[in-house]
Amino acid sequence: ALLDIRPKPLAGRKIIVTSGPTHEPIDPVRYIANRSSGKQGHAIAAALARLGADVRLVSGPVGIADPAEVTTLHVETANEMKDAVEQLLPADAAVFVAAVADWRSETSAGEKIKKVAGEGPPALQMVENPDILAGVGHHRKRPGLVVGFAAETQDLVRNAEAKLRKKGADFIVANDVSHEGGVMGGDRNKVRIVSKAGVDEWPEMSKDEVATRLATLIAERLKTVVV
Ligand code: CTP
Ligand code: CA
Repeated sequence: ALLDIRPKPLAGRKIIVTSGPTHEPIDPVRYIANRSSGKQGHAIAAALARLGADVRLVSGPVGIADPAEVTTLHVETANEMKDAVEQLLPADAAVFVAAVADWRSETSAGEKIKKVAGEGPPALQMVENPDILAGVGHHRKRPGLVVGFAAETQDLVRNAEAKLRKKGADFIVANDVSHEGGVMGGDRNKVRIVSKAGVDEWPEMSKDEVATRLATLIAERLKTVVV
């Protein structure tokens, strides 16, 4: 076999990636979650590792395998994901791909909630989950490069630009998850890279190709980031 002696541009760089959904329990058998296969986040973790990064993947519950050459931590809820990410700081970069549930039930019943004839459904009191990306984007240990995603069904670029500012990110990878987009659960993706410099529209490609291209962009940017 040939020995690959090409230098790995992300060697020595620690990068945190979040992926998958979070599950917010209602009782021992029920939960609230977003749709997310974890495919795009896991592909990004794998692509960063191929470029030599020390990747720490914080994954919600997914039906796919842990990526090769990546240290994967498994969590269930948004609060667990936030704690895991903050424990991993400091890092050179962080990429937030997880579809975090925005709300959780304030309480999780210890026993299965039973249907009671005539009583109707339980009234769940919902509370907002912490914004993990915004917390890291404004953290005193903020990584030199912070990348978020924006899943939108309308006003894609305008919403992504608002998230860029509000969350303290350097890039937002914006994707259209409207029904026509057909991104959810599939193997292909069409994204725009939104930064202060403007909007870069990438052609439709596989999630693996998006991951490789994003990892290359991150490597380029980390060359110029002073830490
Ligand atoms: N995100 C996060 N923690 C949350 C919510 C979102 O870290 N509690 C991250 C996601 O991983 C993604 C980015 O923030 O990188 C944008 O997520 P998105 O759901 O598109 O944005 P929200 O701010 O939650 O706004 P909305 O769902 O109302 O569009
Ligand atoms: Ca959200």
